[in-house]
Amino acid sequence: MSDAPLFIPVILGTPRQGRQSEYVAKWIVEQIGQWNNIETELIDIRTLSIPINDAGESIKDPQFSATMERSDGLIIVVPEYNHGYPGLLKHDLDTCLKEYIHKAVGLCGVSAGPFGGTRVIQNLLPVMRELGLMTIFYDLNFGSVQDLFDESGKLKDEATYVRRLERFMDELVWMATVLRFGRTSVSVGKKGETTMNFHANKPCPEIAARMGMDAMDTVMQVSCSETGKIETSVEG
Ligand SMILES: Cc1cc2nc3c(=O)[nH]c(=O)nc-3n(C[C@H](O)[C@H](O)[C@H](O)COP(=O)(O)O)c2cc1C
Repeated sequence: MSDAPLFIPVILGTPRQGRQSEYVAKWIVEQIGQWNNIETELIDIRTLSIPINDAGESIKDPQFSATMERSDGLIIVVPEYNHGYPGLLKHDLDTCLKEYIHKAVGLCGVSAGPFGGTRVIQNLLPVMRELGLMTIFYDLNFGSVQDLFDESGKLKDEATYVRRLERFMDELVWMATVLRFGRTSVSVGKKGETTMNFHANKPCPEIAARMGMDAMDTVMQVSCSETGKIETSVEG
């Protein structure tokens, strides 16, 4: 297995003017950028070239796609907006799919209220699963965020958050390392040939009915070609 540093970019998940999440994301990048075995960079969703008059993989930002492809894991800094996630974050995440599969993700919630974005994290979990990302079971929470940084953007109680970041990164690095090994070295399937990089291999009753097959014996494979076109095939 490659012993190259893990590449774990940090996604700043809101375009809002005056966003506090920017302080959080920049602090994480600055911290983990100093670690020996990790490469990182900030991905600001404000800067992505993704139109908003369409949705899905056909509107990929090539650079974002390439960065997701190269990544071993992700950190998503997500503010809580009405207990949910910013629409633009979801819109941008939806432009990739196979780029994420079997990669680790750690979630960092940011909120004005005291709960540190726990509700937005809960709401993001099913999205992560459907994208093929593996969430770790330790989150970062920046509650009452307006009180945490000074005017220059410096975290006031750095020691507390460094401790939490280290625990979070222990989990994320472990998961990213294991999954890198799995992606490159583990094959399973009936003939030991499956590389497990496909997406959405699911029972599909509608197609089964159309083909006169039993839904339980039928799966629809959905994959994405190089052109970004969604392709489906049915296996009995
Ligand atoms: C549309 C909107 C909805 C919000 N809803 C919540 C909320 O449900 N819970 C909460 O604690 N803070 C809420 N906030 C406050 C944000 O959590 C707060 O602005 C915080 O600083 C993180 O977001 P930011 O990065 O945009 O600043 C909301 C803010 C906006 C703009």
